[in-house]
Amino acid sequence: MCGIVGYVGGKEAQPILIDCLKRLEYRGYDSAGIAVIGDGIQVYKTGGEIAALEAGMPTMKGSAGIAHTRWATQGRPTTENAHPFEGCEGKVAIVHNGIISNFMDLRESLAAEGHEFSSETDTEVFAHMVEAELNSGDLLTAVRKSLKLVEGTYAFAVVADGRDEVVAARCESPLVVGLGNGENFLASDVTALLKYTNRVVYILDGEVVRITKDSVTIVDAEGKQVTRNPERIEWSMEDAEKGGYPHFMLKEIFEQPAAIHESLLGRIGAVDGDEPFITGNSFSSVKIVACGTSYNAGLVGKYIIEELVGIPATVQISSEYRYSAAARENPLVVLITQSGETLDTIAAAREARKRGNSTVAIVNVMGSAITREVDHVIYTRAGPEIGVAATKTFVTQLTALYLLALELGSKGRVLTAQAKHNIVSQLRNLPRAVQDVLNQADTIEAVAKKYSEARDMFFIGRNIHYPIAMEAALKTKEISYIHGEGYPAGELKHGPLALLSKDSPVIAIVSRDHTYDKMIGNISEVSARDSPVIAVASEDDTEIGKFADDVIYLRNIPSLFSPVPVIVALQLWAYYLAKERGCSIDKPRNIAKTVTVE
Ligand code: M6R
Repeated sequence: MCGIVGYVGGKEAQPILIDCLKRLEYRGYDSAGIAVIGDGIQVYKTGGEIAALEAGMPTMKGSAGIAHTRWATQGRPTTENAHPFEGCEGKVAIVHNGIISNFMDLRESLAAEGHEFSSETDTEVFAHMVEAELNSGDLLTAVRKSLKLVEGTYAFAVVADGRDEVVAARCESPLVVGLGNGENFLASDVTALLKYTNRVVYILDGEVVRITKDSVTIVDAEGKQVTRNPERIEWSMEDAEKGGYPHFMLKEIFEQPAAIHESLLGRIGAVDGDEPFITGNSFSSVKIVACGTSYNAGLVGKYIIEELVGIPATVQISSEYRYSAAARENPLVVLITQSGETLDTIAAAREARKRGNSTVAIVNVMGSAITREVDHVIYTRAGPEIGVAATKTFVTQLTALYLLALELGSKGRVLTAQAKHNIVSQLRNLPRAVQDVLNQADTIEAVAKKYSEARDMFFIGRNIHYPIAMEAALKTKEISYIHGEGYPAGELKHGPLALLSKDSPVIAIVSRDHTYDKMIGNISEVSARDSPVIAVASEDDTEIGKFADDVIYLRNIPSLFSPVPVIVALQLWAYYLAKERGCSIDKPRNIAKTVTVE
């Protein structure tokens, strides 16, 4: 996946394009490039991050252009494979996010017509196709006609020599138009545009859009004009900036009390029936489908739903769900995705609909693709998350799952008035419990530093804290590059114990509930193999210090809710490990924030 931007207006395009592009760097940073329409098409591209592009590019005069930051899928991350691509005659330049699945066939027939290619990418064919079509018409029509031959997923943006316009098209890759005064913008994500405008129009699958300085024209695949009202984005520019923190990830970790609060705002009343999230109640089970961190949130959701609603909940990875056999039951399918653009999860939503199931999406980005694929949407309201590692979107996904379970439990008359009252007051306390953890960031940093040279780390938890162990392992491996594994504590003796030694610290989540004694037993098994134990435990646990080498103490709250403060402590743990190891925290190697490929 990649980030694309476009600009047409009265100002110099180059600085605006670069500024917008930098806000999309989380989508990929293997190579970058820019094309500006001025005296001919001026193109500059390079391998590496946007900083390398900025450092090397010449000044380009002109008030229309496109730019791209790449996460390689087809073709290595080299300068030759960087976007934009031009046709043989240099009359058009294009940028692309997605995959042209039939590019080999297209390339063969273009080559037979005499076209020459300069890259290994799937994208380049489209530049040649549009250029050939442009000889007989306008740019919008040339793009629309060329798209008829393309199979796959895309957001394209195209410029042509001598024309102050950008034409773009979308199929399963995000694309949004930003509306300015005497200028218009295009981007893969609204966060790229917030400095310039908060009025946007989302482009839908199959549509082609043409922006000029003063106009935006959207047509469908057949060329029929489409009218769509602009939306106003409430996120401020500041929301998308680092706000004085060294990394977006740390800023986003510290925003979690406010994010949870925002997520709950006005919704607790709704649980009692004012404004239900879910209508239609014919399901007797829940299936949660998601990827990565969102999947881990789903695993926590299983425990929450089974406890509060009393119906079975299963959790499946999106790319597995899609190809699994349909069960005979008719579950409510809950799709969790912070971006709302993860292709595996969107495909799963379509599959769920095909199976006739009610669908609900828990999503952070307003107007994202998944919102159009489901029956109900619960926004997590975490604000923009820029760090590749999901943090505040994870805790707000959990918040949304508590609210969903509360509503289903209320509707199903499983919860008494007293139980609901208790749950609501625990939810209201969550921002404070998280703030308590943040206040201990220095302590967590000091412990993390001690173990930052480890090569492997194991995270163990029981019951609802088992998925938190998995999420902590994912955070750790993703940003610190330490190999991390999350296990149910009782499972170590069935294999993983063989890997333990004094060089493999074990982080144990110790809950003051019915699992406590068993967890102490598991910690003893670990200590017997000389592995250092770091416990994350309740502040009133006076025994744990005897069993663990280090303890991170957290406020004692009921186990059903403690996944939230515990994961915040372990996000900090991962963050400080990565910081100590000098890693690229906001943009870890090989991964990107939004995964719009299958
Ligand atoms: O946008 P999504 O929630 O659908 O993304 C799913 C995963 O790619 C994502 O959660 C990924 O695992 C995180 N960036 C890890 O921190």
